[in-house]
Amino acid sequence: NTDDTQPRHFLDVDDLSEAELFAVLDRADEYKRAVENGEDHADLSGQTLGMLFQKASTRTRVSFETGMTQLGGHAIFLGEDDIQLGRGEPLKDTSRALSRYVDAVMARVFKHENVEVLAEYSSVPIVNGLTDDAHPCQTLADLQTIREHEGDLEDVSAAWIGDGNNVAQSFALGCALTGVDLTIATPEGYEVDDAVLERARDLGGDPTTTTDPIEAATDADVIYTDVWISMGQEDERDVRMNDFEGFQVSADLLEHAPDASVMHCLPAHRGEEITDDVVEGDQSIVFDQAENRLHAQKALLSWLLE
Ligand code: CP
Ligand code: NVA
Repeated sequence: NTDDTQPRHFLDVDDLSEAELFAVLDRADEYKRAVENGEDHADLSGQTLGMLFQKASTRTRVSFETGMTQLGGHAIFLGEDDIQLGRGEPLKDTSRALSRYVDAVMARVFKHENVEVLAEYSSVPIVNGLTDDAHPCQTLADLQTIREHEGDLEDVSAAWIGDGNNVAQSFALGCALTGVDLTIATPEGYEVDDAVLERARDLGGDPTTTTDPIEAATDADVIYTDVWISMGQEDERDVRMNDFEGFQVSADLLEHAPDASVMHCLPAHRGEEITDDVVEGDQSIVFDQAENRLHAQKALLSWLLE
């Protein structure tokens, strides 16, 4: 936060440097301990977060709102159809108006360009709560979770199995920044964007891509998947169900990675990208991931606003 006139935004993971990302992850661990020990940590006393949603959410909404309460601040839920945005007020006007009231805005939108517009017109930090292209807050929680379970991020090998979607793309950037070795297995036509792979390489990463889920999973420390049909892709259901055949994270796949932790950002669609027994099984750490959304986002907000 060197330039006092320009707020820092968090539109994707690589808006943070490696050192800043580790600082946020360390702070996330501290907040987790503070919650566990019942210690007061009202670091955002009197501050308000606006939460703009164009898509549904359970974890993002509740973790941000609860996080602001725990930090001594306040959060306001702004569903698109509850505010004038839903009746055609331009996003740039919404952003400038919100900036005059709140201390930060978290936004979940369809087009990634929309968080860029919010940021362009905002005088307060904009935090990406998921776009069609990126889900960086999820990555913060994911990295915190992997570090908890593996002890360190270096020497960890992770396999992404499924759609090269928003969650995959931010995860690829997070792995690149923190030294996690990543293999991404997707069906043809569902790859992570080349531009994202290029950004990951620029950050020092070297993600491997394949169309073979077994190759990616074999001996991995972490296996990560997400839905095959993301919000906004409901019309593609039939085609996608067909195209993703063979990419299910199941007990059969885990035979190739008996020691792997299984991750999923949730919500999970059991019987599609993952089986019920894997979600419920010993290798699953999906609810640790969900919990860490709270701690990681509190860390991000207090870091952005200090
Ligand atoms: N993982 C995640 O962002 O969940 P929600 O859609 O419930 O917020
Ligand atoms: N890829 C999913 C993630 C939901 C948290 C979606 O965009 O719907």
